[in-house]
Formats: sequence, C-alpha cells, structure tokens
Amino acid sequence: MTLQLRVYVPSHPLIKHWLAVARDAATPPVLFRSAITELGRWLTYEAAREWLPTQETTVQSPLDSCPATLIDPNIPVAVVPILRAGLGLLEGAQTLLPLASIYHLGLERDEKTLQPSCYLNKLPEKFDPQTRVLVTDPMMATGGSIMAAMAELTQRGVDPSLTRIVCVVTAPPALQKLSVAYPGLIVYAATIDETVNSQGFIVPGLGDAGDRIFGT
Ligand code: PRP
Repeated sequence: MTLQLRVYVPSHPLIKHWLAVARDAATPPVLFRSAITELGRWLTYEAAREWLPTQETTVQSPLDSCPATLIDPNIPVAVVPILRAGLGLLEGAQTLLPLASIYHLGLERDEKTLQPSCYLNKLPEKFDPQTRVLVTDPMMATGGSIMAAMAELTQRGVDPSLTRIVCVVTAPPALQKLSVAYPGLIVYAATIDETVNSQGFIVPGLGDAGDRIFGT
C-alpha cells in the first residue's frame, strides 16, 4: 500500500462558525483568541478519532457488568504547540487531552527570507516510538515552519504515521512539502486556501494569527 498525506477538512458547523469569526478582520483579539481556542477544541476532537490509544475492559454498572473502552494510559500522548500562535490551539486541545505532555517549540519566521529559526526547544531527547503526537499551529503557509518542526520530531523518534497536525488555515505549498517528506502524516484543518502571497501570508487566510491572539 502506498502511503499518502491525508488532509481532513471536517464539515462541522462549529468549525465553520469559528473559522468565519477568526477570518473577520473586525474581530477583536479577545474574540479571536476564543475562536482559535474553539477551533483547537473541535479540530482536536476530530483528530482524536482512531489516533487516541484505547484499551478494552469490563466495567460493573449498577445493574450488570458490561464491555467498555477506556483511553489507554500506557501509551504516551504529546502535544507540541508551535509558538507563538500554536498556543491558542493548545488551549482547546488540552481540554480534550488533559493527560498529554506538552512540549513547546518556538519557531519564528523571518519576515524577508520566510525562513524559520528556532528560539525555544523543549522537546525530549527521545520520544517513545509509540507516542501519539499532536502538533498545533494555526497557519501552514510556505510550510517552512512545519517542516522544521517535523524534522525536530522525527529525529527524536516520532513516527509520522502516529502524528496529527491541527491547523486552522493551510495552503498548497505547505501540503506539497509535507506530502513528499511525510506521506503517512494526517492533517486536520478548518480550511485549505489557494494562495500564499509574496509576503508569505495565506490569502484570504486570517492575517497574522500570533499577533491577533496576543494583540501585539
Ligand atoms: C506563523 C505561523 C506558522 C508560520 C507559518 O508564525 O503561526 O508558524 O508563520 O508560515 P510558514 O508555513 O511559511 O513557515 P510566525 O513565524 O509568524 O510566529 P508567531 O506564531 O510567533 O506569530
């Protein structure tokens, strides 16, 4: 079987609603933050399908015993927010994955060259190869930042087929790069926009997510 990058754009009214709020240039930072948190929550909910490890067991209800499924606590789950903007999605993701370990990765894209540089790396030296990893970043434009993040993860033992990327807006350049390098990877996005302009912004996109989340 040939592996191919899969990109899911869930057709869900809550995801569509919060995307519309986030796209609107008139949305103030406090509401923009809520929109990104909500998108983090619902996209993570979708991404958790067939990704979160479960175990079969039996529980005793007040009336009888019955088969049951629980989240498997023995398989590590990690969330990697790409700072700064990924912190907005983390807030929603964390409500669904309260036991996940959070490893911050700070990447900043140079405004002229569009090349990312890393200013904070809290990743462990080695991940357990079974670790389920969720990467959060609201925007994947040229793909430079997500490719840098994936390189840091895979060189520490992360399996791309056990990795999910949650982002709000993505675009063809990022998806093309990911599909060549990580064919087993799965992306959950609220939308795929067509264009990345010469300044590296997704159009129509939602502007600079980091600046809008933090009001800076
Ligand atoms: C933005 C965004 C991504 C990156 C996307 O972050 O959150 O990390 O740019 O662009 P790319 O696909 O072309 O690499 P930015 O570097 O502006 O930092 P910030 O999150 O601190 O605002």
